[in-house]
Amino acid sequence: MFFERPDSGDLAVLVHIDFHVQGETYGPEEFVELAISAGADPVAVVSGSRQRPDARYFVGTGKLSEIKEIVDREEAEIVLFDHALSPSQERNLESILKCRVLDRTGLILDIFAQRARTHEGKLQVELAQLQHMSTRLIRGWTHLERQKGGIGMRGPGETQLETDRRLLRERIKSIQKRLDKVGSQRDQNRRSRSRSAIPTVSLVGYTNAGKSTLFNHVTGAEVYAADQLFATLDPTLRRLDIEQVGTIILADTVGFIRQLPHRLIKAFQATLKESSEADLLLHVVDAADIARDENMTHVDSVLEEIGANEVPTLKVFNKIDALPTGEPRIDRDADGNPYRVWLSARDGRGLDLLQQAIAELLAEDVFSETLSLSNKYGRLRAMLFEHGAVKAERFDEEGHSILEVKLPKKDYLQILARAGMSEDQIFAA
Ligand code: GTP
Repeated sequence: MFFERPDSGDLAVLVHIDFHVQGETYGPEEFVELAISAGADPVAVVSGSRQRPDARYFVGTGKLSEIKEIVDREEAEIVLFDHALSPSQERNLESILKCRVLDRTGLILDIFAQRARTHEGKLQVELAQLQHMSTRLIRGWTHLERQKGGIGMRGPGETQLETDRRLLRERIKSIQKRLDKVGSQRDQNRRSRSRSAIPTVSLVGYTNAGKSTLFNHVTGAEVYAADQLFATLDPTLRRLDIEQVGTIILADTVGFIRQLPHRLIKAFQATLKESSEADLLLHVVDAADIARDENMTHVDSVLEEIGANEVPTLKVFNKIDALPTGEPRIDRDADGNPYRVWLSARDGRGLDLLQQAIAELLAEDVFSETLSLSNKYGRLRAMLFEHGAVKAERFDEEGHSILEVKLPKKDYLQILARAGMSEDQIFAA
């Protein structure tokens, strides 16, 4: 596969090898997108298939000479592998190909370095980059001419390339310390949000599924949405009003991707934690993607890994405008509860159905009533006020407090238990 030669960016040869893994039928298309997202100009994709990677060069010697021939002919500056390479494979390949070699992890780290915007996001990427680098430092960087910038050499880690391992370790430690601080601040924010009992809904999904577009459309916000992978790296939170439920917090999160380096999952755990503590997950799926089922399975397995698989989930099948027969609709399970909504975040069709489904799913968990409390329920009344659950209060002629309350059902039951009461002792007004 060859491409028109564009006029900027690193000229890159891409290598994608099929190892006949069952259930993995994806081709090099996603990798091409990743490379472009990183700012590379792919000049060729070399494909092949093998039983298992070669220990020295990852590919066989025949494939290696094919790659070398293309690198020389196209004057490529970098070879990108759609796989994880060991440090020694990277080194061996570089000495034969006489140009830089970067694996999938390095490429994703590079994209993350370009995209991180918040302080925390930048620290997390830097940490992951430094850790990735520390396994590779042994080789020294002298066998290749030192180059400034370029894919895999960008971002906060760039100046670290020439420092020794001790400095690297110190830097890693200091970043970890700073991240802990930011993390506890974040925990505090989250706790105060959950104290005020605002339900949180988190958008999750494979990269490029359309999460940011959806987020922008329903909240009227201006989150960067682009035809680039990982346009969103830092979680973005917005308040949103949903009929029957009231205010909710909607969180946009980083996109998932196959073979996301493990370190990155760890680094972004704080971000993803938002998802595991959400009241509802919206799993956004590009319904028009041929790899849609595989992508969904992948997202599900990451959710399991971060402990978010217990959270109620609504699938959002996005991009119905790109399907031959795409009508907005809600699919319901045997109990009549919504489990999937078909919509188009781009043209807005089906967004009303999404709001409806969210309302139905969250309303189940919300206790919203008008209560009539006599004096002897003073403790309960005080606790409801303290929780921020009271929307309005008036008194009837008998001096009963007529309270309009709204709070998560589980909090209501907890408060009742703490007040030493049962549900049937309370009367609706
Ligand atoms: P990451 O930040 O990588 O996780 O991506 P994301 O899931 O936030 O996707 P984003 O909203 O950036 O959208 C990715 C691409 O899909 C953009 O080019 C959007 O314009 C496009 N897109 C989003 N929604 C729709 C849709 O309903 N229909 C079509 N045809 N394209 C859409």
